[in-house]
Parts: sequence; C-alpha cells; structure tokens
Amino acid sequence: METHLRLVRYLADGQYHSGEALASALGLSRAAIWKAVRKASERLGLVIESRLGKGYRLTAPLELLDAERLLGAMSPAGRGRISRLEIHDAIDSTNAQLLRAGQVGAPSGTLCLAECQTAGRGRRGRAWVSPFGANLYLSLLWRYPGGPGELGGLSLAAGAALARVLEGAGVADIGLKWPNDLLWRRRKLGGLLLEVAAEAQGPSLVVVGLGLNTQLRGDQVQGIDQPWVDLDEILGPGGYSRNQLAAHLAEALTATLEAYGREGLAPFLPLWDRYDRYRGEEVEIRLGDRLVRGIQAGITAQGTLRLEVAGETRIFHSGEVSLRLAQPETAPATTRTG
Ligand code: BTN
Repeated sequence: METHLRLVRYLADGQYHSGEALASALGLSRAAIWKAVRKASERLGLVIESRLGKGYRLTAPLELLDAERLLGAMSPAGRGRISRLEIHDAIDSTNAQLLRAGQVGAPSGTLCLAECQTAGRGRRGRAWVSPFGANLYLSLLWRYPGGPGELGGLSLAAGAALARVLEGAGVADIGLKWPNDLLWRRRKLGGLLLEVAAEAQGPSLVVVGLGLNTQLRGDQVQGIDQPWVDLDEILGPGGYSRNQLAAHLAEALTATLEAYGREGLAPFLPLWDRYDRYRGEEVEIRLGDRLVRGIQAGITAQGTLRLEVAGETRIFHSGEVSLRLAQPETAPATTRTG
C-alpha cells in the first residue's frame, strides 16, 4: 500500500498524531511523513491540519472500509451469499471492475467497494463524483440464466430494497424517484447504475452499482448539478457506521438479486409504491431533447413508468429517460437533471 494511504489509516481517527509517532509507526523519516501528508491532501482531497507541537490530524475523522468489520456486520446467511469481497483504496469504477472480473469468470455474489473512484459512472453517460472516503461506492455482480429482457425490473427491486435498509438505519423520509434515485426530501442521497453483459437469450451478467453520499464537502460537489444531501446531514456525523451500513446494503442487495431470479419484480412492487415520492405529482420526462409533461401514475408490473398525459396513459421505459418535477411554464428548460 502506498505511503500516503498508510498514513491516512493512522489519521482516520481525527486525533492529533505527532510527526515522530507517525514516522516510527510507518518506519519513515519525518520528511517522508510530511511528503505523505502533502500527497494525501493533493491526491485524495483530504484536509489535514498540522499544528506545531501537536502534529497532524484529519479535520473530519473517517471510518474507512474494513473487510472484517463489514463481513462481521452481516448475518451468516448474508455472508454466505458473498462469494468474493474486494475493497480498493482507489479504482476507476467499481462497476467497471466487476464487469472486467465477470469476463474472467467471477461468480455471482462478487462484491466490490472502493474508498474513491477515478472514473465513477452515473446514469446516462454522466460522471459520478467519487471523492475519497466521502461516499459509499459499492457494486455487486450477479449471474442469471435468462437474457437481458428478463432484467427490466431489477433496478427497481434493488432500489426498493435499499430504501428499506436506509429507513431501517434511521433515514426517515427516504424515497425513490423512478427509475434509480434514492431521495431524501427530494434531494439526491444516492443512485443506482445497472450494467449488463449478456447474450440475447441468456445467460446474463449484471453489475448493480450503488453510490451513496455519506460525508461530502461543499468543495467536492462541483460536478453535482441537482439538490443533494449526505448521511452526515440526515443522521449527524457518527450517527451511522459506514461498514455496518455497507454490510446491510450489500446483504439486502444479494437477497434481492437472488429473489428476483426466482420471482421477478412482483414481490417488490408494494415496496416500490411505498417509497415512490413522485406519484400523483406533475412531472416532466425528458427523451433526448423532447419534454413530455404529465401526472406520474406509478409503475407497471414490468417496472415501466405510467404517465397520464391529456387523459391518456403513456408508458415509458427507463433507458435514456430522465424524470423531474414539472417546472413552472416560464422557467427555461435545462438538460441537466438526474
Ligand atoms: C446515478 O447516476 O444516479 C447512478 C450512480 C451510480 C454510481 C455508482 S458508485 C458505484 C458504482 N460504480 C460506478 O462507477 N457507478 C456506480
């Protein structure tokens, strides 16, 4: 592991550590510690304070991901569904990593997390802002015998199951925005990205990726173009454990992916309805550069969206579609919505 990453593990508690103590713990000179501090600030965007006579500290403590803590927070059944666990300090994208692993035979239940992503991917070709230690970046690989046509409702089932976990963790007012957004009071808390590699008639390999904001700083969010929120704001710093939450989310995700293979979306429809925050609202659907306005009327048994437009029900597939609350007629249209 690179020196600056080893240093961050020591500083994660948010306490002061003297240069001397760090040098002796890491087996480095004090000059090398200073270099590692600079590298951690520059490369990872961490704010490290240095005080004469006291040493160095991270201004905000971090709970770094830890395989033992994560697996230890799962039930035996949940642990049993994880066939392989990878935790990276940095990776291009946890989804990309599992698509690569899938090509060389990684089994269902391969779980990948990272502290940061250098090329995090969002829906519709967008980037996903992925600073170090500030979010959860979690992907799960699953294999199905059928073709991609059978997977249309999978992301909705996954979203509903994850919303339930977040509610259980104390996130009252958690909601879903079709097809893949996790919302808190209409601000984006997280999102799901499903990527599939499949033969038309099967088999299919699916990677479900979850990005969940936990501790984003204002200076890290330039790339986010919609109202957002993080768990620190909702639950308070220290109001949750990153490892425990990742464990519970991963456990729910594996259970959902397994159940979906047997029963499809049907058992998850009531859960989706419970968290659907835009039902009955006037919304806009963007299809390329076309906007369709209507009343959001829930989802079909296949997971497509119902929109009441001028007395008729129209159906939309997720694909490249985006949905938002209708803007006042006078507001200029914007293409930058999630
Ligand atoms: C969205 O656009 O709302 C979906 C965002 C999904 C981001 C997650 S972070 C973990 C996984 N790896 C990626 O590159 N993307 C997904």
